[in-house]
Amino acid sequence: MKQIYLDYAATTPIHPEVVKVMLTYLNEVFGNPTSIHSCGLEAKKAIEEARGRIAAFIGARSEEIVFTSGGTEADNLALKGIALGNGSRGNHIITTSIEHHAVIETCKFLEKRGFKVTYLPVDGYGLVDPDDLRKAITNKTVLVSIMHANNEVGTIEPIADIGKITKEAGIYFHTDAVQTVGHIPIDVDMLGVDLLSMSAHKLYGPKGIGGLYIRKGTKLAPMQHGGGQEKNRRSGTENTASIVGFAKAIELAEKETASEAQRLTSLRDRLIAGILERIDHTKLNGHPMIRLPNNVNVSIDYIEGEAVLLNLDLEGICVSTGSACSSSDTEPSHVLLAMGLPHEQAYGSLRITLGKWTTKPEVDHVLEVLEKVVAKLRAISPLAVKGGGQSRNG
Ligand SMILES: Cc1ncc(COP(=O)(O)O)c(C=O)c1O
Repeated sequence: MKQIYLDYAATTPIHPEVVKVMLTYLNEVFGNPTSIHSCGLEAKKAIEEARGRIAAFIGARSEEIVFTSGGTEADNLALKGIALGNGSRGNHIITTSIEHHAVIETCKFLEKRGFKVTYLPVDGYGLVDPDDLRKAITNKTVLVSIMHANNEVGTIEPIADIGKITKEAGIYFHTDAVQTVGHIPIDVDMLGVDLLSMSAHKLYGPKGIGGLYIRKGTKLAPMQHGGGQEKNRRSGTENTASIVGFAKAIELAEKETASEAQRLTSLRDRLIAGILERIDHTKLNGHPMIRLPNNVNVSIDYIEGEAVLLNLDLEGICVSTGSACSSSDTEPSHVLLAMGLPHEQAYGSLRITLGKWTTKPEVDHVLEVLEKVVAKLRAISPLAVKGGGQSRNG
C-alpha cells in the first residue's frame, strides 16, 4: 500500500538536495568551526554563508541569527534570555493561550521564578485582538511573545499590527515563526519583531537545527554557557552539516514559496470543501482565509479524532489530531479549548497538513477514505444519533 503523508506540520520529509549538500559536511568538511586551521576555517566559512542566506531570507543581518537545536530551543532562548537578561526592566510577560508548548511551558517555568504572565484570549478563529494586547501592557512588561501562525489550526496572527504596538511601548517582541518560515513571506522589519524562532525540519530541512533571529541591540542572557560560540549567545560546537542543510532548505523555499503557497491553498480548499460537503456534522477549525496554505483542521462530531487517525493509518494515510509534540497527552487541545470549542468537538478534531509532495489525486483519495472511516466509526459510536440529523447539544 502506498503511504500518503499528510502531517507536514509535524515534520517534513528532508529534501534530497538538502541531504546531498549535508553529506559533504558530514564526510569531508568535518573540522571544528572554532579551529583556526584550514579544516576548521572551511567549516566556519560554510556556516557563515548559511547564516547570511537565512538572514537575507527574513530581511535580517547575518550577525542577528543564532543557530539553535530547533524551534523549542529558539523559543526557550528568546523567552528566558529576555526575561533573565532584562529583569531590572520588569517582570511581566504577555503571550497567548494558543502558543506551542515550547512557549507555554517556558512561561510556566518563568512564573515559578517570580515572573507574571498574561495569556491573551483568542476569538473563535484563533485570532488575537491587538487591542487586548494594548490593554494588557503595564510598566513592568518586558516581553510580548505571540506566534506567527498556529501549528494546530493554521490561523495567522496580526503580527505586524502587534509589532507597531510593542514598538510604541518600547517592549521586546518575539514571534514563534516555526510554522511560517519557508511557507509564507517573512520580513522581520515589516513584522516589527525583535526575536523570531525558526526550525529547519518544518521546511524540508534536517531535524535538530533551527535558529533565533535577535535584532541588533537586544539584551539577551545566554542559556548555554561554555566555549562562547555564536557570539557568546549559544555555546556548543556548531552542527555544520545541519546548518548547511538548513540554508539549502531555505534556498529551495526561496524559489518556491509563492507558487507552492498558491498550489497548496487550492488543494487545501478542495479538501476542506470536500469534507464539509461529504460528511455531516463537521466544522472547520481556524480562520477560513487567514490560515496557512497547507492547514486543514476539522472537528468531526460523535467520534474521537484519535480513532479516525488510527483508522486512516490502517489505510496508509498519516494525519494528526493536533500538535505532534503533545500527541501523548490525553487532554484535548488547549488551542481548540481556547477558541471556545466544547470538549467533545476538541476531542473530535483532525489536522491534515499538506506539502510539497501532496497531489490532487491524493486529496481525492483521502476524501473517499475519510468518508468511509467516519461512517464506520459513527456506526459503532454510542454518541452518534443513527441516521445523522441531531447534534449532541440539542
Ligand atoms: C509553532 C511551533 N513552535 C515550536 C515547535 C518546536 O520546534 P522543534 O520541533 O524544532 O523543537 C513546533 C514544532 O511542532 C511548532 O509547531
